[in-house]
Amino acid sequence: KEVKLWGGRFEESVTEAVEKFSESISFDKALYKHDIMGSRAHATMLAKQGLMTSNDKDCILRGLDEIERQIEAGEFVWRTDREDVHMNIEAALTDLIGEPAKKLHTARSRNDQVVTDLRLWCRDAIDKILDCIKCLQATLVCLAMKNEGLIVPGYTHLQRAQPILLQHLLLAYVEQLECDYSRFVNCKDRLNFCPLGACALAGTGLPIDRFMTADALGFTALMRNRLVHGQQYLAVGSWQKEMAIDNHFLSLNKRSLSLSSLAFNLYDPIRYHGRLIVQEGEATHQVAKSNESPCIDAVSDQDFVLEFLSANSIAAVHLSRLGEEWVLWASEEFGFLIPSDSVSTGSSIMPQKKNPDPMELVRGKSARVVGDLVTLLVLCKGLPQAYNRDLQEDKEPLFDSVKTIIGMLEVTTEFAQNITFNRERIGRALPAGHLDATTIADYFVKKGIAFRTSHDIVGRSVALCLSKGCQLLELTLDNLRSINPVFEEDVYEFLGVENSVNKFCSYGSTGSERVAEQLSFWISKLDIN
Ligand code: ARG
Repeated sequence: KEVKLWGGRFEESVTEAVEKFSESISFDKALYKHDIMGSRAHATMLAKQGLMTSNDKDCILRGLDEIERQIEAGEFVWRTDREDVHMNIEAALTDLIGEPAKKLHTARSRNDQVVTDLRLWCRDAIDKILDCIKCLQATLVCLAMKNEGLIVPGYTHLQRAQPILLQHLLLAYVEQLECDYSRFVNCKDRLNFCPLGACALAGTGLPIDRFMTADALGFTALMRNRLVHGQQYLAVGSWQKEMAIDNHFLSLNKRSLSLSSLAFNLYDPIRYHGRLIVQEGEATHQVAKSNESPCIDAVSDQDFVLEFLSANSIAAVHLSRLGEEWVLWASEEFGFLIPSDSVSTGSSIMPQKKNPDPMELVRGKSARVVGDLVTLLVLCKGLPQAYNRDLQEDKEPLFDSVKTIIGMLEVTTEFAQNITFNRERIGRALPAGHLDATTIADYFVKKGIAFRTSHDIVGRSVALCLSKGCQLLELTLDNLRSINPVFEEDVYEFLGVENSVNKFCSYGSTGSERVAEQLSFWISKLDIN
């Protein structure tokens, strides 16, 4: 049996049951790319800081390249007895290049390593999700473009409410997805900080350069103990000088700031907690000294995963609602929507069946995504500082949630590309349900009648329809006047779903001009041609 990388103080090896129970390699190997990325940056920094020779570094980099190649070629042997992805790669590197590999873990713990890997992984995963969202939005906008002028019943409480343009409805989903999009962007901004160098929890006494690794890995800045250091930086104000953010590290923010705006901005820890150089005449003071302070939060904080899974959950719930609506619309009872055979499935017993399974599964899989979030919330709620092995359990829910949400977005996009709206069935359904009633209430308001009064007049007109078994449009002027003499001939310009839709004019309403404006906004925003 191979001695563990941490085996020095042990006299016995772990039991098979414990080894099997504690391994994470079966799932955390998904982090290999980001683990290797982190190791490359770490080794390069160690060499620059004189903590290994440049020859050692070159051997390590070559070895890591080879390991990456082997993994991608399916030649790499993942070993359960090597526990996790970090130790698998480090041990394999030692097998491959010998002594230099033993220096790679200098000033590093698996605690800061795993969370660095995870942040890098999440960053890439969010980019994929953002692409998928854009794709679905564009598909929904195209679907709206194809169905110009199509009026459908609008529902509240799943009861007929008011007539709306189908485009208006589809764009509502596009808007929801836009909110999701910005939630993911925010989440990515907030997680893009580097924990590497926090080591086990306390940092290190070795002269590492954390800025260098953070920079090499494309992090906005690095994590110290907590991100918020506003007060500490505010003390800087006593310099009374122009200050520059160190452009080596925060190249994005390469500019001078006046003292007042700096003081303000430094309360925005997300953007300005990197290395800060204050220039006072010739003298340069490095303010961000607290990098050497304990790094407990960097290795134990799981907020970024929680936030990511929350964003996934909200998006999943949005997709689930769309799924529910389309499943309903594809039913015989509604018959508004016809999925093509390519996105439908049949029954093993009922020969006539054609089911909209993909959207049912979108609805169903949202449960997994929400479940993954709940798993993580419960996982974190009882943990004392700092790293606890429980945190290893964050990976499977994270991976599952991301895989599921991407699948949901992709399949919803494909489903949307393969449906048609049944104009005939929709047209037949439209006259029922007194969809134009609210428009008539507005008609009286335009004639100077108080809305409550007009609501009552129209309510009584609907009651008359119900007793006659007809629609408002089918009542004669005499019928209407028997309820209230304020009805005039021009009421027929307001009755019926087409007239009713045409009367909408408020910003964001279902009126055709308003909807056309919204549509052209999305066409240009999403670059659709
Ligand atoms: N596989 C572990 C995880 O994912 C890596 C960190 C282990 N650290 C430790 N001190 N045992 O959490």
